[in-house]
Amino acid sequence: MKALVYRGPKDVRVEEMPDAKLEKPTDVLVRITATNICGSDLHMYEGRTNMEAGRILGHENLGEVIEIGKAVDRVKVGDMVCLPFNIGCGFCANCERGLSGYCLTANPGTAGAAYGFAGMGPYSGGQAEMLRVPYGDFNCLVLPDDAKEKENDYVMLSDIFATGYHATELASVKPGDSVVIYGAGPVGLMAATSAFIKGASLVFVVDSHKDRLALAEKMGAIPIDDSDAGGVEQVLHLTDGQGADCGCECVGFQCCNMHGKEVPHLTMNNLVQTVKATGSIGVVGVFIPEDPNAQDALAKEGKIAFDFGKFWFKGQRIATGQANVKAYNRSLAKLIHAGKAKPSMIVSHELSLHDAPMAYENFDKRTSGWTKVILKPGK
Ligand SMILES: NC(=O)c1ccc[n+]([C@@H]2O[C@H](COP(=O)([O-])OP(=O)(O)OC[C@H]3O[C@@H](n4cnc5c(N)ncnc54)[C@H](O)[C@@H]3O)[C@@H](O)[C@H]2O)c1
Ligand SMILES: [Zn+2]
Ligand SMILES: [Zn+2]
Repeated sequence: MKALVYRGPKDVRVEEMPDAKLEKPTDVLVRITATNICGSDLHMYEGRTNMEAGRILGHENLGEVIEIGKAVDRVKVGDMVCLPFNIGCGFCANCERGLSGYCLTANPGTAGAAYGFAGMGPYSGGQAEMLRVPYGDFNCLVLPDDAKEKENDYVMLSDIFATGYHATELASVKPGDSVVIYGAGPVGLMAATSAFIKGASLVFVVDSHKDRLALAEKMGAIPIDDSDAGGVEQVLHLTDGQGADCGCECVGFQCCNMHGKEVPHLTMNNLVQTVKATGSIGVVGVFIPEDPNAQDALAKEGKIAFDFGKFWFKGQRIATGQANVKAYNRSLAKLIHAGKAKPSMIVSHELSLHDAPMAYENFDKRTSGWTKVILKPGK
């Protein structure tokens, strides 16, 4: 099969790889029809993780079931399915509690597994013609009859729609709340959509990319252009100096200052400043335990210069981590089915697998207009 293979920093290639196949009776084999490029892929693409060369990338996958293992009960050949980026077993202590992002079975010795992801198990990604899905009955979200028509919406359930929603859960967003979101990338935009779904009264989205801020505005959010580092002031001004009720971090450890230099503590400290005293902060942007290629000495060891004193003094709370996609994807799918959510509004490019290397290059440079790329293997 054709697949997008990581060869090294900024070097991904479409290559002929062995076909994905069933390996266990609980597996399902999916012919991929839509697979996205994610900001998380960029940490790997840029060589900022310990991703091994030769692995297939892609954790935001949707497709048609073409074969099922003998122990698969529920999922049938021909079903259109969306796969959460996390691989859960469904029966461990964490999966049982809905925390499938921290499955204890799928990647023994660590909590959490994913497709085509550094440090999250040996599983191949879905930027390919086919994908092996472990624990198929648990992991496949079987889609309704508009699956093909709304494919570009449903594919966002594999990660970013659920992750944006998770950010608002971690930040305890409630009806009427004001919410400040750092990052107008796909995850930040989905956090904004989710905040509105939860009934937020005011949503601020902070970034410096005008094309992305324009999308935030189109969703009804207040765009905060931080290209002159005045974002904190603007949010405080618009919240009577108090800060927003809740905040979401949707950027991660590669966040940058106005000069494009990485300052890994910047968004976290800006959140402490722009969330009110006693407010909650949800962090879905990825931070990693070690970053040997960081410029900053602390960051090399996975540490940041966090304003803990101010955070403590304001009595704020923080919650972090991978989204437990399974906890939300079924409900969010119903919103898509009913026409009440349209996450595809952020899609800028629909390309063939063949175009993936060019798409990685542009998405990585945040070239204007490259907001979210869907690859369509087979097209
Ligand atoms: N927790 C999870 O389960 C999960 C799932 C998916 C993605 N992620 C992570 O979420 C983050 C965002 O993903 P994405 O796909 O939207 O990526 P992206 O890289 O496309 O978007 C990040 C955005 O943050 C902006 N940014 C950079 N520095 C900033 C700053 N100081 N202030 C405000 N904005 C700033 C960038 O301009 C960019 O638009 C990444 O770290 C990704 O790995 C986490
Ligand atoms: Zn992703
Ligand atoms: Zn599990």
